[in-house]
Amino acid sequence: MATIQEKIEDRKARQDKVKQGGGAKRVEKQHAGGKLTARERVEKLLDPGTFIELDQFVHHRCTNFGMEQEEAPGEGVITGYGTIDGRLTYLFAQDFTVVGGSLGEMHAAKIVKVQELAVKMGAPLIALNDSGGARIQEGIDALSGYGKIFYRNTLASGVIPQISAIMGPCAGGAVYSPALTDFIYMVKNTSQMFITGPQVIKAVTAEEVSAEQLGGAMTHNSLSGVAHFAAENDEDCLKQIRYLLSFLPANNLEEPPVVATGDDPGRRDARLNTIIPDNPNSPYNMKDIIAMIVDNGEYYEVHAHYAANIITCFARFDGQTVGIIASQPSVMAGCLDVNTSDKAARFVRFCDAFNIPLVTLVDVPGFLPGTDQEYGGIIRHGAKLLYAYSEATVPKVTVITRKAYGGAYIAMCSQHLGGDQIFAWPSAEIAVMGPAGAANIIFKGDPDAKTKTDQYVEEFATPYKAAERGYVDQVIEPAETRPRIITALNMLATKREARPAKKHGNIPV
Ligand code: HXC
Repeated sequence: MATIQEKIEDRKARQDKVKQGGGAKRVEKQHAGGKLTARERVEKLLDPGTFIELDQFVHHRCTNFGMEQEEAPGEGVITGYGTIDGRLTYLFAQDFTVVGGSLGEMHAAKIVKVQELAVKMGAPLIALNDSGGARIQEGIDALSGYGKIFYRNTLASGVIPQISAIMGPCAGGAVYSPALTDFIYMVKNTSQMFITGPQVIKAVTAEEVSAEQLGGAMTHNSLSGVAHFAAENDEDCLKQIRYLLSFLPANNLEEPPVVATGDDPGRRDARLNTIIPDNPNSPYNMKDIIAMIVDNGEYYEVHAHYAANIITCFARFDGQTVGIIASQPSVMAGCLDVNTSDKAARFVRFCDAFNIPLVTLVDVPGFLPGTDQEYGGIIRHGAKLLYAYSEATVPKVTVITRKAYGGAYIAMCSQHLGGDQIFAWPSAEIAVMGPAGAANIIFKGDPDAKTKTDQYVEEFATPYKAAERGYVDQVIEPAETRPRIITALNMLATKREARPAKKHGNIPV
């Protein structure tokens, strides 16, 4: 019979074995591919020395196709908790060196356990994905595992922040767990996401495409919008996740952390008075305005490469996290279209779920016209933005810098959708449609059309008609935008807005 000392040593030996993952050769292959191992990722993501691992000795129960001989240390996934900037965080990291990080019954059970702990404790869950998908030998048990994870992703949505990083393959139905979470990071050149891979596509449609072209980091960051962030490598990805969390509360019942940024809340910026060109059709870069008004010029863009005619980012005003949604006049004149509507609506809903006030900067000439947009369902997609802003009960502050026309004026967090404080710069043009187009219709054939059009522009392309009705609370000097926003956010800090009880709404998805 083993002595207690031998049992203690045996425990250590078992643990060491788990820590070696799939062994030196496979670890070498992982490194050669430019990837860190799952364990290295966990160490770099969390505050040093804080990781507590769970379920190290969980083992699969599969006896098909030689799996009974397969040891699969740790079941191909590392799970547990630790801290990021001192705050409790749960995570799982799939270990590609163990059966290709493939997901079977017990691998899924480990993930489900941390999902449930994270929700009970009200702490973020970070998923580091690197997997060949469903463990083929386990068949239907693997599918059951995925289903259980999807179900818990959905239950956790809006309760805790869920962040996914794709750091290797993520194929087939496996993509849907990340897709159900709040944010997806992808690492350039080493990660791919697709429902069906290049070989299946070739067999079914004869289309030839590389894995990178089909589902690489930039494909999903710029074309499909599936991913929100692109990282240069594993380390950059993990660093960015830590940064994102610095803006977020741990759960839906907490306020976001307040950070002492050292930036003067009363700071004016005279450069804002000259940023709008005299010609209303000339572009300018809205990012310059964002950088001038937020704390220390620092903001973190979400979906930076996708639908760039709108900007979504986290930033701070006097240390308080806000979500900024801003028209970008330097890309497609800042118009709203299918993709911008989706991008902004999803961001608004995330912020609202997690008590993050919304600051909207508006310079929008309207919805993009054309058959592409109509056939693509701009009516349905645009409605999401109206819905998301109307539904949001967090403080909503809007600044109209220049154009705010028609339905797009309403959609960009106007007072009519519950905007709490609407500021307009003197350069604002708030009207039913662009003044030239409007004058074309009402003065068609009129010999005095030119004079009348000029008069129309003078009268209607201003913030004052809207201010006369109280649709704009204040017309402000651009230089004082930052202190005005901060004062408004402070005033709105105790906002409480009750809505009729319902099971849930029916956003036009
Ligand atoms: C079991 C798997 C596996 C899987 C990889 N492995 N994927 N084992 N089930 N799904 C094993 C390999 O046998 C190999 O074992 C090790 O992991 C590393 O794999 P390699 O192929 O050597 O690595 P690489 O060349 O880098 O290729 C990676 C890969 C490829 C592109 C991911 O492994 C691959 O195509 N795997 C299958 C992908 C797939 O079709 N998955 C099922 C999708 S269906 P050894 O012992 O040699 O190291 C699905 C349905 C989910 O996921 C539905 C959810 C609703």
